[in-house]
Amino acid sequence: MRIFQRFLLGRLVVAACMVALLGGSAAWGAEKYSPLGPLPDLKQPDSARVELGRYLFFDNRLSGDTALSCASCHLPTKGWTDGLPLSRAYPGSEYFRNAKTVLNAVHAEVLFWDGRLSSDPFETHVRDHLTESHFMNMDGRLMQERIKQIPEYVKMFKNAWNSEPSFGKIRNSIRDFEKTLVSRNVPFDKYMKGDKRALSSNAKKGLTLFKGKAGCIRCHNGAYFSDGKPYNLGVPTNPEIAKNPLRQVGMRSFFLGMGVPGFEHLTEDVGYYTVSKVEADKGKFVTPTLREATRTAPYMHNGTLNSLEGVIEYYNKGGGKAPNKTPLLKPLRLTASEKEALVEFLKSLSGDEVVVTVPELPKYEVIKNWLKVKN
Ligand code: HEC
Ligand code: HEC
Repeated sequence: MRIFQRFLLGRLVVAACMVALLGGSAAWGAEKYSPLGPLPDLKQPDSARVELGRYLFFDNRLSGDTALSCASCHLPTKGWTDGLPLSRAYPGSEYFRNAKTVLNAVHAEVLFWDGRLSSDPFETHVRDHLTESHFMNMDGRLMQERIKQIPEYVKMFKNAWNSEPSFGKIRNSIRDFEKTLVSRNVPFDKYMKGDKRALSSNAKKGLTLFKGKAGCIRCHNGAYFSDGKPYNLGVPTNPEIAKNPLRQVGMRSFFLGMGVPGFEHLTEDVGYYTVSKVEADKGKFVTPTLREATRTAPYMHNGTLNSLEGVIEYYNKGGGKAPNKTPLLKPLRLTASEKEALVEFLKSLSGDEVVVTVPELPKYEVIKNWLKVKN
């Protein structure tokens, strides 16, 4: 009887697996994943606010010493990243991670490689970027006074918000601009909406591998192609971080600010551990989106992989080495044509290039009679 039960149970599990596999996008083996799909359309923010946000995104006067704007590290021509393996930082320091793209970030659940910020409310990351010493190192009050000295901005704030420039409105204008930086005309999305010719047969083969043999869907799932969870893939360290004292200073002072225990002994980026402080989370990074990845090389949190082909090769080997590497990565034994198909599929996740006109920034003007001096 017991044997019979086991046999029946085994049959049921096999049947369930088959249903799951045949059931399509939401399944990998017997487990369920958020289905892949097109990005949902978002409500378009007010156009005057978006326009103001576009100016502010490119304006260096929003950083402490006026050296940086958001666009210094998120260049429209480089897929809204800086194109560097490791990002720069506020002058005098250097950052220790790769700059992520702003494209589609509004669809993310958590932000930053270590997932230290929720994306709800989305504007919090703008505040973080403006004020953190490793990014733009700006004092909110000072920023608002600077912007008030630019009459053209004063008019734009009146028009967009019916108020004078303030830290909160500057932040929210940039947020509204970022909401417009989303992919459009994406072959994969068109395919999922019913246009069966939107994907080449090779890309379709890649999609099948993505959901099946290659198992990418276990972490890159949902419309955003990310489960929002952290994993250690054993990505090799970037030697530049250990070699460049400025990067070490940038990293350690970040750890110190995050309250990371033993920060003074850490020479490598510990990722999600900075948030959770749980030993087992060392070296974990949150699954990034794969949308627009053709434009955002180099890859991984420390920019150590240069091409999509290189990334596939890396997964094919079963990832890198680390004591707490995720058991989800195993050698894949992909053939050369399967690797090509996967790359072809990844390419189908990029839409039209998102370009904007770089604004001509309005100038400071002397505010007359500030102290009401009699001449
Ligand atoms: C000095 C370079 C630099 C500047 C200036 C900068 N960023 Fe970033 N940005 C980065 C880096 C590096 C990351 C990734 C940080 C991390 O994960 O630790 C990032 C991450 C982001 C993300 C998160 C994307 C995601 O999916 O998690 C958004 C959105 C973003 N930046 C928007 C902005 C905005 C808006 C501004 C201007 C207010 C700005 N950035 C200024 C370097 C910069
Ligand atoms: C165990 C979860 C997991 C699986 C399975 C997985 N990934 Fe990833 N992927 C991640 C994480 C986490 C990162 C970031 C790792 C880091 O920087 O340390 C990443 C990074 C990437 C990147 C770089 C993106 C960027 O912006 O730098 C690409 C491309 C990618 N994965 C594609 C794939 C493909 C293709 C597969 C299937 C062959 C796959 N992934 C399987 C979790 C996973």
